[in-house]
Amino acid sequence: MGHSKDRAIITGGSRGIGRAVAEQLVAQGSDVLLVARDGQALAQRAGELNQAGPGHAFWYACDMADQPDAANRVAQYAQASIGEPTLLLNGAGGASIAGALDAPWELWQQDFTLKFWGYLAMMRAVLPGMMARQRGVIVNLVGVAGKDPNPNLAIASAVNGALRAVTKVMADEARSSRVRLVNVNPGATDTSLLTQMAGQMAERVQRDRTEVLSEMRSGSPFGSLPAAADVAQLVVFLMSEQAQYITGTSIDIDGGAHRGLA
Ligand SMILES: NC(=O)c1ccc[n+]([C@@H]2O[C@H](COP(=O)([O-])OP(=O)(O)OC[C@H]3O[C@@H](n4cnc5c(N)ncnc54)[C@H](OP(=O)(O)O)[C@@H]3O)[C@@H](O)[C@H]2O)c1
Repeated sequence: MGHSKDRAIITGGSRGIGRAVAEQLVAQGSDVLLVARDGQALAQRAGELNQAGPGHAFWYACDMADQPDAANRVAQYAQASIGEPTLLLNGAGGASIAGALDAPWELWQQDFTLKFWGYLAMMRAVLPGMMARQRGVIVNLVGVAGKDPNPNLAIASAVNGALRAVTKVMADEARSSRVRLVNVNPGATDTSLLTQMAGQMAERVQRDRTEVLSEMRSGSPFGSLPAAADVAQLVVFLMSEQAQYITGTSIDIDGGAHRGLA
């Protein structure tokens, strides 16, 4: 028996990888709820998606650093708009260029609050319902720094490592309900976040921003960077029935940059 159509919550759905996932899901007939801070950008994205169809797009503006309230409000709004979610993409995050010692304490707190607490709170808000209905897939956009800790990305390395651990234990809890949780680890991907990181890096090493960005692009293993849509294709595959035995793990999409065997 086939499933009824999917209903996805996409945090970070207004730009970058989250936006590309929304486009692909709507194109295959799923309904989506886009979440980000900028309501104008969200309204525009949702309008474009509804024009494209056949799925429907809704939006909810909130700061995902406001946890756990934001996650609970998003879950409630999902019920009122798309209905009980069958999919969650956690993508509202970022990565500050900073070392472990020079990063101010507030930045450690801020980045953990948005990405670690934000992803965790969203998973806790939707997972019990998915388990009760025995249907659901959660994909987290994490990042290779969680596998190859990077001294210039000290906080992101720690956040991503912590997310890998918590996703594993939650996948263990969800497995008997046939609900899956998977992390995707993008390497450098061509989104506005990368431009922002190049700017921070240029400031850190006192170099030209455009030069740093073009080095990031040409220094990638394939000589060019994946676009958001390339990462989105992997996410949408992991959300599909074809990936029904993939859970509790992380899939890298980094052009082979990660050197370890695990
Ligand atoms: N791009 C890469 O190279 C790369 C590599 C590894 C991992 N990742 C991870 O993948 C995820 C997505 O990255 P991306 O490149 O697609 O980023 P992006 O293009 O900068 O998009 C980020 C999205 O998150 C939203 N967002 C940011 N802060 C938020 C907040 N406080 N509350 C609610 N929404 C918020 C943004 O909208 P608003 O600004 O309107 O809120 C936007 O929709 C991030 O967790 C990132 O760390 C990216």
